[in-house]
Amino acid sequence: MPSPFGLLAELTYACPLHCPYCSNPLDMAAYRDELDTGQWQRVLAEARELGVLQLHLSGGEPLQRRDVVDIVRSAHDLGMYTNLITSALGLSAQRAEQLRAAGLDHVQISLQAHEAGASDRIAGTTSFQRKIAGAHLVKELGWPLTLNVVLHRLNIDGIADVLALAERLGADRIELANTQYYGWARRNRDALLPSREQLDRAEVVVRAARERLAGRMEIIYVLPDYYGQPPKPCMGGWGHRQLTVAPNGDVLPCPAAQELPLPRANVQEHPLSWIWSESPVFQRFRGTDWMGEPCRSCARRDVDFGGCRCQAFLLTGDASRTDPVCTLSPDHELVAEAVRAANSDQPVEAVLTPRPHPRDTASRADD
Ligand code: SF4
Ligand code: FES
Repeated sequence: MPSPFGLLAELTYACPLHCPYCSNPLDMAAYRDELDTGQWQRVLAEARELGVLQLHLSGGEPLQRRDVVDIVRSAHDLGMYTNLITSALGLSAQRAEQLRAAGLDHVQISLQAHEAGASDRIAGTTSFQRKIAGAHLVKELGWPLTLNVVLHRLNIDGIADVLALAERLGADRIELANTQYYGWARRNRDALLPSREQLDRAEVVVRAARERLAGRMEIIYVLPDYYGQPPKPCMGGWGHRQLTVAPNGDVLPCPAAQELPLPRANVQEHPLSWIWSESPVFQRFRGTDWMGEPCRSCARRDVDFGGCRCQAFLLTGDASRTDPVCTLSPDHELVAEAVRAANSDQPVEAVLTPRPHPRDTASRADD
């Protein structure tokens, strides 16, 4: 049994932004009952005992939790490396100093585009200037700064400007990650999937920037799965190195697995060690025994583990099928069709659905 290395703590799905590519679950109202501070601290202690060394604090927006400083301090005291994944909304100078004093090691700030108009339009709220202020604050306090820009059809043509902005901000690292089609992004896929031409242009820009900024800024560029071949070894394999704890305490092998019809395992009912090593949700797709054809007899089965379980489920309704991204999958046409539409002369006119605020969904659910 491998030990988990990283824990993604989704402290809350509350978020001031409304990005249409959000991978949070569609039914956010189901996650209103969040773990309290003491429960999170217990989870962290159990995670450390299991071997977890890296803690990624995410959401939603983790700064929406009043106790984020206490949670960081606990993780730091346990000897974990702590990374805050944030929109920077809520990162005041005072809060940043408290987080620094509590031992926070690293900050990752999301940007939606290189300038306020496009960025605020995609975020669904006025936020760009506060993100820039947050990035300056991170540098002033001496943290390493990573910028994360989710790429899609509506912003990928501005990738050179995004890189120039990252350089001006003194970012140490930038993640240019094409949208993963889970949650709200799956709903908006046809409006978000870029064309091959857009990707080719972006790759030229990334290659040149990597050469120019070598040794100064690390540039991570992630292709959209739909254009990637062979499929990615999602999460490095199901239940292999990573675990995710959702705001309500559900523990999952990956952040998108909430949508899969699998038995739940919650930290309020079971120790983390049992969930990791024995729970049905972690055992279901561990290793390769669960595979059917064509993966079962494929030479790459120990390399990519049949691709992404969540993608297989979202596209075919069956999480145990080969990821349709794979050209050997009998369902590959589902991906090929979406790619053809994104590259046609008349791409599908799709309307973006903004991710709602969880409180909006909560009040609708109560009505
Ligand atoms: Fe990977 Fe399965 Fe495709 Fe082989 S058939 S490349 S194991 S997804
Ligand atoms: Fe869940 Fe790939 S995102 S297994």
